[in-house]
Amino acid sequence: MRTEKWVLREHMEGVPDVDRVYEKVVEDIEVRLAPDEMLLRTVYVSVDLYLQGIALDTPIGDHMGADSIMEVVEAGPLAAHQAGDLVQGFGGWRTHVIGTGAATPWQSGTFPMVFPAYRRLDPHWYDEALPLPTALGAMGGPGMTAWGTLTKFMTVRPGDTVVISGASGPVGSLVGQLAKRAGARVIGSTTTGWKAERLTELGFDAVLLYRHGDSAEAVREALRAVAPDGVDKYFDNLGGAVTDAVFSMLNIGSQVAVCWQWATQVGQESVGPRLLPYIMFPRATIRGVFSLEWFTARNWQALHTELGGRIRRGEIVCDHILHHGFDNIPAAYASLYRGRTERLGKVLVQL
Ligand SMILES: NC(=O)c1ccc[n+]([C@@H]2O[C@H](COP(=O)([O-])OP(=O)(O)OC[C@H]3O[C@@H](n4cnc5c(N)ncnc54)[C@H](OP(=O)(O)O)[C@@H]3O)[C@@H](O)[C@H]2O)c1
Repeated sequence: MRTEKWVLREHMEGVPDVDRVYEKVVEDIEVRLAPDEMLLRTVYVSVDLYLQGIALDTPIGDHMGADSIMEVVEAGPLAAHQAGDLVQGFGGWRTHVIGTGAATPWQSGTFPMVFPAYRRLDPHWYDEALPLPTALGAMGGPGMTAWGTLTKFMTVRPGDTVVISGASGPVGSLVGQLAKRAGARVIGSTTTGWKAERLTELGFDAVLLYRHGDSAEAVREALRAVAPDGVDKYFDNLGGAVTDAVFSMLNIGSQVAVCWQWATQVGQESVGPRLLPYIMFPRATIRGVFSLEWFTARNWQALHTELGGRIRRGEIVCDHILHHGFDNIPAAYASLYRGRTERLGKVLVQL
């Protein structure tokens, strides 16, 4: 059987040059499944900024990992899923996967982690309002990150000022819309003017234009103008200067969710925790959020009912931007760094 995969050719710090980092490999393989193994065909692949870290931890010559939706083509008698099932898991940039779909340890440079076992996608959960690709977006990891943060850590109350750095992505825009519906005043950041307008249409009360490298002083000044009463809740996707500015404005009892750090992971700012007095005086709580901890059957059901229900009722908007074709996966990934399309949304590739 002919299969294709994108393998890693170079470890590149900072913004990746996908033409150098990835190479397509075509193979002819003989499929001989063990009793607990499956042959799966990739249907959709997700591209995400965190893949920059995954790429650095991937041995040269190995395939690139990524979240994906796969269809089981063939399954051994003891396999976890059956032929015809749709599953979501860390299948990677490959047209086909052979494996058991069991949880897999991953030795990351920053922290050891485990990719969860493939989860079966119940076809009844998906329709025109919530199509299958949302299993990698609002009804997948990004949605679980937003919904999990707001239901299991961050207690957003009416009147709170909530700031979200990197708010135009699927995670930030969901956090913002959910916080708005909880009665908060919501402020987000984006690098681009038209995205600021789009966030305003989604209900954001104010949007800062911030790009990595802008000074903390400039951000602080802009933030003070739109958050004169300080910041009660901060959802951090970026780190760096915008986070420094927010820390100096935290209110008593504030909460900070650290979702990702563009500044460290891509911007290569390897500074330790800083501005800690700003945490001490307001007795702020900072918590790392790592959505895999919420990947349970019960939470998936609740995510579909609660966030999915709001999307179905048109209260919350989520979108996805589909690229097409296996060959276009690296270009879709590169679009996360070099501006996207005229829409906001989760970037996916349909194979
Ligand atoms: N902790 C977890 O469990 C978890 C789960 C899912 C995702 N994540 C991570 O969380 C982050 C957000 O996810 P997402 O899917 O919403 O990502 P996304 O769509 O890629 O959005 C990223 C945000 O970062 C901003 N950004 C990108 N480059 C920037 C730069 N140079 N300077 C300033 N801002 C910049 C973007 O602004 P513009 O669009 O305006 O350029 C956008 O608002 C990602 O890094 C993702 O990998 C973490």
